[in-house]
Amino acid sequence: MPISAKDTNLTTAAVIPAAGRGVRLGPGAPKALRTLGGVPILVHAVRAMTRARAVSLVVVVAPPDGVAEVRALLDSHGLPEAKDIRIVAGGESRQDSVRLGLAALPDEVEVVLVHDAARPLVPVDMVDAVAAAVRDGAPAVVPGLPLVDTVKEIDPATEAVVGTPDRSLLRAVQTPQGFDRATLLKAHTTVTGAVTDDASMVERLGVQVLVVPGHEEAFKVTRPLDLVLAEAVLARRRATDDY
Ligand code: CTP
Ligand code: MG
Repeated sequence: MPISAKDTNLTTAAVIPAAGRGVRLGPGAPKALRTLGGVPILVHAVRAMTRARAVSLVVVVAPPDGVAEVRALLDSHGLPEAKDIRIVAGGESRQDSVRLGLAALPDEVEVVLVHDAARPLVPVDMVDAVAAAVRDGAPAVVPGLPLVDTVKEIDPATEAVVGTPDRSLLRAVQTPQGFDRATLLKAHTTVTGAVTDDASMVERLGVQVLVVPGHEEAFKVTRPLDLVLAEAVLARRRATDDY
């Protein structure tokens, strides 16, 4: 049943896909287990989601051979007792991992936030805003930012430019992406083909996706330079915000 605007007490869960290797980051431990300011990226991401008032349950999707390691890691980093944290094994693709995370949700969950472990510094206010938009009745919500670069469309065979989309109509989207659970589940059970986010699966169902303001600090740690930026943001927060 679709969520109505009156439902303000919906149970909200976060699914955190963390099963990727982080190939673009270069050789080393799986990306989610690398540290920022001495704390694993995954722990930062889990903390951000548990700090969100709406979120009562977090499902972490771990590398298939790393479930025990992730459990030990989370146990050793003092996460809030009041929030239920579950760990499941992930899959080959991000989509597979999210689907496996969704399968671990208890029946009462009605709103799902899907958040990349690779976005450890997402501000908690942004998480709350995404959750609030879904709880207010939007079936699918993504945080997005205007682009700074001009984007070209190319012919992949020749790299020749075939077009320049109007930048003012584009948004770079982040996570957490928030969904009415039934809508997201339907997307994950019916849409096939490779995608890079959950909202695009929901779009293929013909369901409207709403963009809300994203945040620069919700960037995805993808390449080595992102680690430098993330360390700097974290150091500034620790110096100024008692983070
Ligand atoms: N992810 C996952 N399962 C996979 C692949 C990715 O849970 N099979 C997760 C990653 O752990 C990450 C998020 O999806 O938190 C976003 O993916 P991305 O930034 O691409 O991370 P990786 O796939 O790990 O990085 P790369 O593509 O550079 O290998
Ligand atoms: Mg990837």
